[in-house]
Amino acid sequence: MAIERVAVIGAGVMGAGIAAQIANAGLEVLLLDLVPEDAENRSIVAESALAKMLKEDPAPFMSKGAARRIQAGNIEDDLARLDACDWIIEAVIERLEVKQDLYTKIEKHRKPGSLVSSNTSTLPLARLMDGQPEGLRRDFLITHFFNPPRYMRLLEIVSGPDTRDEATQELMDFADRRLGKGVVVCKDTPGFVANRIGTFWIQAAVTEAIDRGLSVEEADAVMSKYLGFPKTGVFGLMDLVGIDLMPHVDRSLAENLPSDDPYHALRRDLPVVARMIQEGFTGRKGKGGFYRINRGDGGKVKEAVDLTTGKYAPVRKPILDSLSAAKAAGRKHAARTLVTHPDKGGAYAWAVLSKTLGYAASLVPQIASDIAAIDRAMTLGYNWKLGPFQLLDQIGAVPFVERLKAEKMTVPALLETAAGKEGFYREHDGALQQLLPDGVYQNLERPPGVVLLEDVKRRTERMAGNASASLWDVGDGVVCLEVHTKLNTIDQDVFAIIAKALEIVPKNHRALVIYNEASHFSAGANLGLALFAANTALWPMIEDLVVQGQKLYRKLKYAPFPVVAAPSGLALGGGCEICLAADAIEAHAETYMGLVEVGVGVIPGWGGCTELLARLAADRRRPKGPMPPVVEAFETIGTAKVAKSAFEARELGFLRDTDGITFNRDRLLAAAKARALVLAEGYRAPDPAELSLPGPNGMASLDFAVHDLALKGLVTPHDRTVVNELIGVLIGGPEADHTTPTPEARILDLEREAFMRLVRNEATLARMEHMLTTGKPLRN
Ligand code: NAI
Repeated sequence: MAIERVAVIGAGVMGAGIAAQIANAGLEVLLLDLVPEDAENRSIVAESALAKMLKEDPAPFMSKGAARRIQAGNIEDDLARLDACDWIIEAVIERLEVKQDLYTKIEKHRKPGSLVSSNTSTLPLARLMDGQPEGLRRDFLITHFFNPPRYMRLLEIVSGPDTRDEATQELMDFADRRLGKGVVVCKDTPGFVANRIGTFWIQAAVTEAIDRGLSVEEADAVMSKYLGFPKTGVFGLMDLVGIDLMPHVDRSLAENLPSDDPYHALRRDLPVVARMIQEGFTGRKGKGGFYRINRGDGGKVKEAVDLTTGKYAPVRKPILDSLSAAKAAGRKHAARTLVTHPDKGGAYAWAVLSKTLGYAASLVPQIASDIAAIDRAMTLGYNWKLGPFQLLDQIGAVPFVERLKAEKMTVPALLETAAGKEGFYREHDGALQQLLPDGVYQNLERPPGVVLLEDVKRRTERMAGNASASLWDVGDGVVCLEVHTKLNTIDQDVFAIIAKALEIVPKNHRALVIYNEASHFSAGANLGLALFAANTALWPMIEDLVVQGQKLYRKLKYAPFPVVAAPSGLALGGGCEICLAADAIEAHAETYMGLVEVGVGVIPGWGGCTELLARLAADRRRPKGPMPPVVEAFETIGTAKVAKSAFEARELGFLRDTDGITFNRDRLLAAAKARALVLAEGYRAPDPAELSLPGPNGMASLDFAVHDLALKGLVTPHDRTVVNELIGVLIGGPEADHTTPTPEARILDLEREAFMRLVRNEATLARMEHMLTTGKPLRN
């Protein structure tokens, strides 16, 4: 049975967020919660949850349309509507009897064969299904989402001994393809995978910091980027998720884990933490947490808690030799350098990792069938850069085991096996392999249909490349252009590889996709380069950069083969423009696209103005005439709007209706490839666009728009200069008039000329400088 309609029961933090993600995927969702006593509006709880989500930031919804797909109801009047649902998700409070009572009600109303799942984080499936009818047991699973459900990629799935295989398969497939989740199949054990290891790690990090007398700042600096953990460190992480959650998770694990589990020896009650929670210092949502911003005396001082006295003091940057050594060692050697360093930072890192990684190794295959599943759970659920076994490989299984032995600590069998072999992962015949508990290496299988550039790189040589970009043969006649600079900014070396692609692809290949596997597709042109050239008055160099960029992007557009851009994460400025130059876009749902050039005092100069105008003018659903596209492009570019999802990018006109949106990051390359191959059949390059632009006649309405912004206080003095240049381009220049079409080439000239005038302006250079040093726009 295909999943087309879904019900979520329990409209709390998780239920509402899960409902939103399913609506994002295009499905109708029924969201039910309790009827409060004496309520006039009996569905008020679910309705309020919906209303609240519309205001949340980061937004649970990818578009306004998604919110409209959720219907709010209550579990007294609307249970009969469950018979239309293919999947019913229970996300009510974590109480066994409440959940079981609800299952009895669900069972009365659901249609035969529909799937039922619980979002429980601590209750075993065996207990949830205790005493339930066989029919339900066959259709029942645990689907454990992470908070917030839109943004956290992990979904842990647990099936019971009676669960139908097809039910598990169907849910896995739906969660993977439609919801974009990284599914990890877990055994029915307490805390499943991510929280079992994650909680142990947090407990170890907190207790060791207290026992060893490290400050919160020191502990967080050690327990973060050099070990591949989130930048927050552990104390910062607890502030983020809520310190009050800690005792709950701790208690549930302590109650449910077998008596010989090492967690019991590690955990203990922490008076500092208990006191903080009691006094309302529950983290960012409370009065403050391990850190707080003190706004007393009109200032703004970041403070941290002293773990012994419980008092706040201004944050001090930790100075530890181990941290400097890890930094100097570089990314690949940082972890090893840190854990082997003799100072207190190094000793702390070792104390926490020896326990945590050893614990993880002792849990295979008890909590999941293999190490890859555990690594995936920790990377997708806790945002670790490396899972425990990848981290062990980086530190080295051999020295790790030797030190455990020297310190008379238990060495888990799997660790011993890895140390006697080639570690937990190895490359073999161009394939990545993982070590199984029986000591055999096995190829890491990707789910069907997943193509990763990471794998392509293992088995093929790059076709061409330099320090900034590479070309890869991704099969079936498709070439992939990968940019790999910092934040994937675009520079002249990237241009050289684009030129190379234009030369190579027509010879023996059919299509080009522009794609990379970094967090961000591209943050735009390399500002540092532009600023350097401007500061040294190398105007010809800047002009050359603009001209070359325009030319190459045009060549991509009119190349005799199809080009598909596949962005994910940020696609800003020049990174957005390269997408607009492609024949089609296959965007990851989590794509944040925008022409943000005005933020640094310039306008889009690589065809962005031209392309956005053309797209808006050609969109059948938008109002016709010379003015509407101009006004809309002005608003989008003039206020540096950034779409917060691929769906918003479509609303802004960056994506066409024919462009695709892929939910699962791991399926993006395959989807882009497939799109390119469809286009390659009988491919014919587009004709150059001609636009009906208003010329000076359009000035009045745009001046009005600027005036409107100025009234809202949104226009700084330099903004005025920048938007005037933008207006000059968008109206088609001083000679344009809507009765004579303006050719694309003319608008491109205008873009370039305006860009060159702006880049010579001191106020623009100040904006660039500020962006480079602070990462934020300067409002001069
Ligand atoms: P919550 O307290 O925010 O929401 C629970 C909702 O369930 C409330 O709106 C409540 O009115 C409703 N409810 C209670 N009894 C009900 C009933 N009989 N019928 C219908 N609705 C009922 O809780 P939260 O955090 O959303 O947790 C829900 C489930 O998700 C729990 O099982 C929890 O363990 C699990 N979970 C929570 C995570 C988190 O980070 N908060 C993460 C992953 C799982």
